[in-house]
Amino acid sequence: MTEKPVINFGLEGIYVDESAISKVDGQNGKLWYRGYTIEDLAANSDFEEVSYLLLYGKLPNKTEFEEFNRKLKDRREVPKEVLEVIRQMARTSHPMDVMRTAASMLAMYDKDLNNKDREATIDKVITLISKLSSIAAATGRFREGRDYIPPDKTLGHSANFLYMLTGKKPSKTEEKLIDLMFILHAEHSTNASTFSVLVTASTLADIYAATTTGIGTLKGPLHGGADEAALKMMQAIGHPDNTEKYIEDALEGKQRIMGFGHRVYKVYDPRAKIVRKYLEDQMNNNPTEEVKKLLQIALRAEKLMIEKLGKNKGIWPNIDFFSGPLYRSLGIEGEMFTPIFVASRMSGWGSHVVEYWNNNKLFRPLEFYNGPLDVPYVPLNKR
Ligand code: ACO
Repeated sequence: MTEKPVINFGLEGIYVDESAISKVDGQNGKLWYRGYTIEDLAANSDFEEVSYLLLYGKLPNKTEFEEFNRKLKDRREVPKEVLEVIRQMARTSHPMDVMRTAASMLAMYDKDLNNKDREATIDKVITLISKLSSIAAATGRFREGRDYIPPDKTLGHSANFLYMLTGKKPSKTEEKLIDLMFILHAEHSTNASTFSVLVTASTLADIYAATTTGIGTLKGPLHGGADEAALKMMQAIGHPDNTEKYIEDALEGKQRIMGFGHRVYKVYDPRAKIVRKYLEDQMNNNPTEEVKKLLQIALRAEKLMIEKLGKNKGIWPNIDFFSGPLYRSLGIEGEMFTPIFVASRMSGWGSHVVEYWNNNKLFRPLEFYNGPLDVPYVPLNKR
């Protein structure tokens, strides 16, 4: 009998690769993209520049930035067959299922599908970043029975997304808020979806196959789907005065409070801190009654959770907790939160594939077999 090895369930604490793309410091609550702090990028950069930084490993000069932006703008249109499938699916399926199918369909339009050269891969990632945002917006419109809005080249990437979703050109504040969310969701080291993207990429399948895997993985409520689930919880709480009882009862019933806890951060997620700050600023910007109520619920839930689980168990708010009230302040419904996560995270997923294919190695971990061996086969008519 083989001796049972040490098993790291969920690969907790296991290094699977080295990377120069981002660093998550879970003990001190810090995050860097290519060495730049997330606070600096959130305050001073934009999603296009952050995507360039993640993909190429440096900030672009003016010419490089214009060229990158031109490609992003030129590729925003969604092929009409894909739009038709989105239209058919969107009324009955969750937007994440629609995103997953549409991303997979994009492979049909790539004449150079299996080219894995660095430049070719970066080019495909730019196409995906550009189109996934339009696909998310189209999904949001079709699910409400509204018409597709074609992209507008006068708008930046995330402002165009909001315009294609709502049909309204965003104000400067709205543009900053949606772009902030795109930046904060763009990359986060070897999280579950990025890891799954890399597993698929490591088989030398194409980038669309890897992206489709990533979307499937991001959907789950323990990962990207937590943003939608956290909003649903706040809506179920209904009134700020119900918050404490709701949370206490949920914890008593051994339920998880969505938007709290993280495999790596054992302190406050720095991205959640940034969202919280912008959300508090929004309170001085004539918010709707709904947003005011959601923020009050969120703040009371945060206080109680930190008292109960923060200091003693290391369970603090993560990026998904305050996203709900912030997106609602932009008029975005809960089911669209995770698709926005997809559209943003494409930059990180793509950057990791580019890096991994530099030195590809098939992922193939081991599993300790704990079942019987040499069981005698009994034919069907004798069982
Ligand atoms: N609410 C209540 N208790 C929690 C929570 C939570 N949100 N998160 C963890 N715990 C508790 C667990 O019940 C467990 O308690 P126990 O030791 O008494 O059994 C302990 O904390 C450790 O939990 P694990 O699941 O083992 O820790 P892990 O590192 O695997 O969890 C995870 C990370 C999955 C994110 C977890 O914190 C969770 O389920 N959070 C809610 C979902 C969520 O917000 N996900 C988004 C993460 S950020 C992102 O992916 C974008």
